[in-house]
Amino acid sequence: MRTLIHPIWKFRYVLFALTALWAVQAISQESAPNLSGIWKWNPDKSHVSGRPSSNRRIKVEQQGSDLTITTRVMTMAGEDFQKFHYAIGSDNNTNQMMGAPLKSKVQWKDGALAVESVASMDNGEMRRSETWALSSDGQTLTYHASSVMGDRPPREDTIVYEKQPDADWEPPQPPKMAEEVYKNIQVFNGKPAPQLMDAMHSFTRSLGVKCDFCHVEGAFDKDEKEEKVTARRMILMARKINADNFDGHMRVTCWTCHRGATEPESKAK
Ligand code: HEC
Ligand code: HEC
Repeated sequence: MRTLIHPIWKFRYVLFALTALWAVQAISQESAPNLSGIWKWNPDKSHVSGRPSSNRRIKVEQQGSDLTITTRVMTMAGEDFQKFHYAIGSDNNTNQMMGAPLKSKVQWKDGALAVESVASMDNGEMRRSETWALSSDGQTLTYHASSVMGDRPPREDTIVYEKQPDADWEPPQPPKMAEEVYKNIQVFNGKPAPQLMDAMHSFTRSLGVKCDFCHVEGAFDKDEKEEKVTARRMILMARKINADNFDGHMRVTCWTCHRGATEPESKAK
């Protein structure tokens, strides 16, 4: 008995289907914009809630599904760099934001890059959805973010970036030292100023407290609180433990003992 479709035709159908699939994939990959380049924000066209930063620039490196976004801004403590690395199409990207782990899902959506992130910060969980859209002439990159932090009202940010020549990304300026920027530095001398704030955020998480556990409101340089003075001793203690036992690598940290509490447990349960 003869089959209705000769096996060779079946094979051709499969081949045709595969070719069509490949073509669709090639087209969709080709139509994914390439956001690579050096970009500088235009403050007049941008709208950011919160603390404005000056001379905000980003460098985008995109190769296939591999994406790295480096931001650089001038702050009081000198130039601040942040690097985010993503695999486009993955919902399991991990980066750091202010010392907290940031988990992101990254994909193309309606021709724009969509990044959905969650981070647990000092004052609660932060959820943020971002889009990066390239203009048709490739000269403007528009960033939009809507973020919800804990139970605070949501905030919306729009930043319009304009394409710059590749040369507009000079090597980083050496950072200022903590004692050049802050008033009362006794243990962070000789450390880059931006590291101080990273340390402060990690203290709050390690001890499960807010800034006011160690500081009087609005006067961070004052030593009025016993807890701040104790914290200095603890910093020196942790450094000594690491120097004496771990070749100076930061193996023992505030978290090692404190685990989110002000008073570590000393006895096994
Ligand atoms: C566990 C205690 C502790 C917590 C919590 C803490 N800090 Fe600090 N902070 C310190 C200590 C200790 C210093 C002094 C460092 C030194 O002497 O080098 C300091 C110094 C500072 C300074 C420098 C002030 C100056 O001009 O000398 C700033 C600014 C600051 N902290 C901000 C913060 C912020 C913002 C937070 C909350 C995110 C915070 N700190 C949380 C202990 C703490
Ligand atoms: C080796 C363990 C260990 C490490 C590491 C450690 N601590 Fe402590 N810390 C303790 C212990 C134990 C206490 C409680 C002391 C007591 O009960 O008198 C304490 C108490 C404190 C207190 C006083 C709390 C209060 O209720 O007044 C502060 C502030 C503090 N630590 C900050 C820090 C910071 C900041 C770091 C990281 C730089 C750190 N500690 C690292 C063990 C540690």
